[in-house]
Amino acid sequence: MSAFKKLDDLGDVTGKVALVRVDLNLPMQDGAVTDDTRVRAAAPTILELAGKGAKVLLLAHFGRPKGERVSTQSLSMVVDCLQQVLGKEVMFVPEIAGPVVAQSIGILRAGDIAVLENTRFWKGEEKNDPELVKAIAANGDFYVNDAFSAAHRAHASTEGLAHVLPAYAGRSMQSELEALEKALGKPERPVAAVVGGAKVSSKLDVLTHLVTQVDHLIIGGGMANTFLAARGVDVGKSLCEHDLAATAEAILDKADASGCTVHLPYDVVVSKEFAANPPSVRTCNVHEVAADEMILDVGPQAVEALGDVLKTCKTLVWNGPLGAFEMAPFDQATVALARTAAALTAEGSLVSVAGGGDTVAALNHAGVSADFSYISTAGGAFLEWMEGKELPGVKALEA
Ligand code: 3PG
Repeated sequence: MSAFKKLDDLGDVTGKVALVRVDLNLPMQDGAVTDDTRVRAAAPTILELAGKGAKVLLLAHFGRPKGERVSTQSLSMVVDCLQQVLGKEVMFVPEIAGPVVAQSIGILRAGDIAVLENTRFWKGEEKNDPELVKAIAANGDFYVNDAFSAAHRAHASTEGLAHVLPAYAGRSMQSELEALEKALGKPERPVAAVVGGAKVSSKLDVLTHLVTQVDHLIIGGGMANTFLAARGVDVGKSLCEHDLAATAEAILDKADASGCTVHLPYDVVVSKEFAANPPSVRTCNVHEVAADEMILDVGPQAVEALGDVLKTCKTLVWNGPLGAFEMAPFDQATVALARTAAALTAEGSLVSVAGGGDTVAALNHAGVSADFSYISTAGGAFLEWMEGKELPGVKALEA
């Protein structure tokens, strides 16, 4: 990661217009925000800039309206939530460029905040159209990107603006990049990665990249079944991508060649039905799964051994649950290993970084979110980072 400018590098911004890209792609129900995590993540940057006397204009997308104005995807819906979290009045501006924005800036006083309309109502946003970039930039003095979770998109508001205005990383972007650098950029070794989730196919690039980066790769979730099957284990009725056997083998070979130890479960929790606390649930060796059973979690002996692996490590990157954690008792492996990681982090022997939609939910369920070193709220961007890809929104900030 090369250097990028931070808010500390700003001079006097009193009365200047800050165009601040944040992620307001928030979960909503009936027009109301149901989870304000991303707003809370952006609040320090917004309040710092307002506190320094800038006029803060927030830029963000919501949903995928594909260049059309869709009233149910207007960012006017997030104004209440912004006001509540920020504790300040927030003006809504129904445009992102042009005279309406310029007039609003005229009304705003130093330290005031406004949110502009959904950037994806304009076709030029996703095309990173230089004309749109120029039009948005015309109303601003400088650009701040605080939306790591949208940084895998090379759009006008996430990438283009950084090239035409003085560009800075916001506080949330800065902590995200610093945490990720500690986890995979220049980590303290040994490094372990936990990768779970349903399908190998959705995380092929993640697995292929990680085996060259980490010392221990712990595979859980449905994707472990694909690896077990590739190794000749009969996984019964388990979720399994049998057609990916050769791909799984190739990943295991690459791991071998790179000195990465891959950990697959050797005992598992199985059941005949996919339901909470089913009568047929039992724990067995991976070689004893019956034809009518499915693997739904990593077994307790394997979890204990994985905990021992973590005790030898200095860094952990976690993406995806180990089992079907939404349903008891198939949450136990995820909860147990997450608690071990949290305890090691609290002791100071492990740097633990986690990210991705399901992962955050799983760690919240285990009650350990606050104990990890860093939890990213990014979904797609976190995965692309785990694939070793350069994120355009981050690259554009690098001087
Ligand atoms: C997200 O919610 O992960 C980001 O805001 C990116 O949204 P997108 O996948 O619609 O680009």
